[in-house]
Amino acid sequence: MGRTREDFARFLEAYPSYAGTGAIDELRTCDYSRLDARGHVYLDYTGSGLYAESQVRRHAELLTREVLGNPHSSNPTSELATTLVERTRDRVLAYFTASADDYHVVFTANASQALKLVAESYPFEHGGRFLLTFDNHNSVNGIREFARARGASVTYVPVLPPDMRIDEAALHAQLAPPVDGHANLFAYPAQSNFSGVQHSLAWIERAQAAGWDVLLDAAAFVPTNRLDLSRCHPDFVVLSFYKIFGYPTGVGALLARHPALGKLRRPWFAGGTITVASVGADMYHLASGSPAFEDGTVDFLNLPALELGFDLIERAGIDVVHARVQALSGWLIDNLVAMRHANGSPLVRIYGPITQEARGGTVTLNFHDRDDHFIDHHVIERGAGERRISIRGGCFCNPGAGEIALGLSAGEIAHCFAQSHDRMTYNEFRRCIDNKSSGAVRVSLGLASNHADVAAFLDFARSFLT
Ligand SMILES: Cc1ncc(COP(=O)(O)O)c(C=O)c1O
Repeated sequence: MGRTREDFARFLEAYPSYAGTGAIDELRTCDYSRLDARGHVYLDYTGSGLYAESQVRRHAELLTREVLGNPHSSNPTSELATTLVERTRDRVLAYFTASADDYHVVFTANASQALKLVAESYPFEHGGRFLLTFDNHNSVNGIREFARARGASVTYVPVLPPDMRIDEAALHAQLAPPVDGHANLFAYPAQSNFSGVQHSLAWIERAQAAGWDVLLDAAAFVPTNRLDLSRCHPDFVVLSFYKIFGYPTGVGALLARHPALGKLRRPWFAGGTITVASVGADMYHLASGSPAFEDGTVDFLNLPALELGFDLIERAGIDVVHARVQALSGWLIDNLVAMRHANGSPLVRIYGPITQEARGGTVTLNFHDRDDHFIDHHVIERGAGERRISIRGGCFCNPGAGEIALGLSAGEIAHCFAQSHDRMTYNEFRRCIDNKSSGAVRVSLGLASNHADVAAFLDFARSFLT
């Protein structure tokens, strides 16, 4: 048996569930042939999903067959566009098992814009609170600027290394005090884009019972996990569709429960968001429901392509994708953890759980030399790139998790910020942090990943053993 076949046999023995995911091998052959044809090893699914070739073909067929006009008009081409957009809205609800009686779907440009809609419209006020986890994307961290500007207090709950899970005692202590009449928002990611940790969805109900509104950032969770909104009911959910099925880019959503959307106060109005507006009388009435939050014209040519993406995921089966990614990330982690330099020193340090319990297919690590000094993540990224392996380096727009993982104290970072009079560049920041790593390497698996992708990364990793 060749080395590759032997390795595959060992993998199947360790992770027999992979054998039940063969449908994805077929999908990869007919819909992702460009990966192997161009010699790419794609391991940046947390950055972006990859589209299937058939999605693009079917979308092009739709656009070349139909005539679609601006949905705000009232004519046959406009009506067709409206029908397709509303059908897409229904499909989003159906995919997440959400009832139209419970949730609105607001289409946005991406998850960040969905977060900004909540940030700028949530009724933060003196006496109110914004509670969030250290482990959050910057687009969630940025909400604190709106909260503070309106006088709400901002509290971060830490994660604990090396597993990078939330300090649950600290979280429950923050959630517990009975909330008075103020609006209070709690925000966290269902899955970390840094460590792959899956934070508990049980916190949603617990927080709501204590009077909080809950914002669930599902951007990194939904590409490889089922989010069932008939079982958990966050007040707000944000996501970007390209992370699930790669195409189209530029479309995301805010899913909001009816009462939660009703709490939001938009700071302005725009074309499409009002029932009537007057210049002479200087007055306007906002539309109700999702139209009040969709500024201007929605992306009516790309939105119908979401249906084709959902078709793809349903063809593969999200539970099959989940099982496959779990098996592959388990194998990846087991092998990385076992790699040792000749003197017994470990090759990598993983920031996050090293078992498959409550974790997704995002694995973040730093390489270390035999004397346990970290190897700059730029060196690793460059080396991977030379082998056409796409991974991500840095802190992935998640500075809170990065700081805890890398042991950067608030004092050290504040000192670096104080050094710069104007804008500090990332390279200046790196120099200031001097002997510590300012970032890490992220390997992430997704819909079209296979054993060969993981084997290619493991081969690459072995080349750093001394
Ligand atoms: C967990 C998480 N939240 C939010 C975002 C922001 O998504 P977008 O850049 O599509 O707005 C990302 C993007 O990587 C993410 O991983």
